[in-house]
Amino acid sequence: MPEAPAVGEVRAAFLAELGQAASPEQIQEVRNRYLGRKRGAVTALLKSVAQAPPEARRDLGQQANALKREIERALVERSGAVAAAPTPAGRQQPGRSARPGDAAGRSEPVDVTLPGRDVRIGNRHPLTVVREEIEAIFTGLGFEIVEGPEVEDDYHNFEALNMPPEHPARDMQDTLYLESPLRTPAGPPGTLLRTHTSGMQIRYMETHEPPVRIIAPGLVYRRDTPDLTHSPMFQQVEGLLVGENVTMADLKGTLESFLRQLFEPDTRVMFRPSFFPYTEPSAEVFISCVFCRDGCAVCKRTGWLEILGSGMVHPAVLEAVGYDPERLTGWAFGVGIDRIAILKYRVEDIRAFYDNDLRLLEQFPL
Ligand code: DAH
Repeated sequence: MPEAPAVGEVRAAFLAELGQAASPEQIQEVRNRYLGRKRGAVTALLKSVAQAPPEARRDLGQQANALKREIERALVERSGAVAAAPTPAGRQQPGRSARPGDAAGRSEPVDVTLPGRDVRIGNRHPLTVVREEIEAIFTGLGFEIVEGPEVEDDYHNFEALNMPPEHPARDMQDTLYLESPLRTPAGPPGTLLRTHTSGMQIRYMETHEPPVRIIAPGLVYRRDTPDLTHSPMFQQVEGLLVGENVTMADLKGTLESFLRQLFEPDTRVMFRPSFFPYTEPSAEVFISCVFCRDGCAVCKRTGWLEILGSGMVHPAVLEAVGYDPERLTGWAFGVGIDRIAILKYRVEDIRAFYDNDLRLLEQFPL
């Protein structure tokens, strides 16, 4: 069977781009564009095999796989060639000559029989893999990704979220305060490492007009003693949607769709009433246990795993940013990336994510 046109096109485009790639970083970018798990052109080609007419499927599958191997080989070769090439004058290291040679600039012969240099491309961290999956799902739903400061002020972390000084809900997150720059002589210490990404709700609404549709991923900090499930630094993703006629049904539908894409399509999702100062009503969201059907040690024999907190944005929060709570409603959620990664990859100890042990990290996709 002649080569499928799609295969030829991807090869031609790849070769052209690879020919232009002149640094390890550029080669890595080309690799991502073709072999990336989410958006790679070859990955898409392999996925399209399933949709091809039955009689064409086998050949197309073989051709796509052959192309994948060809591309992998070409990337390794190109990396070797780039690594061996003389450093361009502009990027020369101080104290080193651009190529082996004597003071008069004559080059020494190169021993072409020496073994090539090992090119280590590395892996993405499991928490990055999960974060990017969450980002892909929400950008697919039209959400924008925003980031904010990890050193936060009391106002954005607590007060504007309806947690004034002395509010008991602060206790759970009483945390790591900084001496400067905002410690006020009276009142609570003003600067802290953010305890959650919820402050991004405030920061975004303060500077943008509704409607709002964002997720805000990032690191958060708490004064927790490390154990299997606690780390003083971990990662969250905040979600916020505000507009006219936004209801709890929208929250439910969106989170159900999100969790089924993130875990399995038949995952069951349960909402249970809860309390957060910045939402009313509030709900804890559970998914059916990923390990068992009828109760195991992980779900404490309940069959459910708590996965995130959510609710309808409290009117006081909308007021704090100058939005009209009579006209606008919204919902929000916060989810822990580490917890999702623990469940998805069956990692038993959250600390493993921060130990930098290559034996763990090398098990994850590029
Ligand atoms: N900020 C909460 C936490 O860190 C999570 C959360 C709960 C975020 C409810 C929300 C929400 O936006 O509506 O535990």
